Amino acid sequence: MSDLIVNASQLLTMAGPDRARHGQEMRSVGLVREGAVLIDDGKILAAGLRDLVQAHELAAKARIIDVGGKVVFPGFVDSHTHPVFAGPRLKDFESRLQGKTYADIASDGGGILSTVDGVRGATLNALTDSLRFRAGRFLECGTTTIEAKSGYGLDLINELKMLRAIKAADETGPLEFVATFLGAHALPGEMKHDREGYIRRVCEEMIPAVSQEKLATFVDIFCEKGFFTIEESQRIFEVAARAGLKPKIHAEQLTRSASIPMALRSGAVSADHLDCLDDSDLALLSIAGTVATLVPGSNYFLNKSYPPARRLIDAGAAVALATDFNPGSCPCWDMRMIMSIACTQMRMTPEEALVAATINGAAALGLQKSHGSLEPGKVADLVCYEAEDYRELPYYFGASQVVWTIKRGVMVHSRHEYRL
Ligand code: NIG
Ligand code: FE
Repeated sequence: MSDLIVNASQLLTMAGPDRARHGQEMRSVGLVREGAVLIDDGKILAAGLRDLVQAHELAAKARIIDVGGKVVFPGFVDSHTHPVFAGPRLKDFESRLQGKTYADIASDGGGILSTVDGVRGATLNALTDSLRFRAGRFLECGTTTIEAKSGYGLDLINELKMLRAIKAADETGPLEFVATFLGAHALPGEMKHDREGYIRRVCEEMIPAVSQEKLATFVDIFCEKGFFTIEESQRIFEVAARAGLKPKIHAEQLTRSASIPMALRSGAVSADHLDCLDDSDLALLSIAGTVATLVPGSNYFLNKSYPPARRLIDAGAAVALATDFNPGSCPCWDMRMIMSIACTQMRMTPEEALVAATINGAAALGLQKSHGSLEPGKVADLVCYEAEDYRELPYYFGASQVVWTIKRGVMVHSRHEYRL
């Protein structure tokens, strides 16, 4: 059965090349007024002007979904999250309100290591159940695909447990997950005096096991003072590349470490955070194939200055936006909130924010050919939003107004009046 979505006041197709959009290309959202979308078997058959879409041979028999003058756009692709954890970190939150920094809390045994205790103590079933619950929250906010990292297990058994939870949630619910192995997130407490031993475990035990069980597409590293150095990161990337894992990096987040040249040499698909870039990094990122993924929800939550989004885009870089959803630096799963922060705090335009949250998020996951825009042949992931004008998305803040979310052609979330 085909579905024909009609009467969108504004349809944002994001139509364009099957790659990340750079610099000025990020201004184009493929806006169609009075647009329509025809979907069949989980894929887009046609999207654009209603008359053209209705001319398709399958349109006459399709079930009509009339959206009554609202905005329709591709599902958000959230390309950086840490969604597998056992509970919030309220003690850390209170310590920070009293003036402690993220780094102080981490070195006092809070931070990532306290979430590691929680994950190690949780069963695979418990982690999977909580992840499936969180998946529902992403779908309600219009996100149809997320990247999900391990990194709170920090030993073989628990890293595998996290990745198996991600796989189970992916296989049993509508939200699509792309898994990333983040064994190099922190040194576990029991190995804090044995860096070399831990890095060898990551390289010799964890990466081969993750690769053998095909549990991850990407490898990520927290390259940061007090966590992993540039040399260690490069070494881990080399081993991971041989095992077929593509690199991503947490780069230039809390302090400057000058890791961008190494990340680009290693072929990083994305470099994420980027709070402490200098001019030479901007020049490199402006011509690189690497997506510059900004996660300003973490800057908001940690009360830190924002990365230079405007300068990156003006220099020609491809910028993606992601939530960084995690219990330490960004307990927010709503991409629309991240777009609002991006516009008000980093001076991105609404158009740039939408491109960054859809097609460029897809490119940050290597999914630019199949996800992130409403074009024939692409997966039918789309959102109807309670607005007449797409600029209302980053304008109103504090509450998402998603009317329905369609994933692979199926309505997986809807407000009551749209339930079919
Ligand atoms: O992206 N920087 C490293 N990882 C996360 C925070 C993880 C945590 O605090 O639990 C981040 O900010
Ligand atoms: Fe992160």
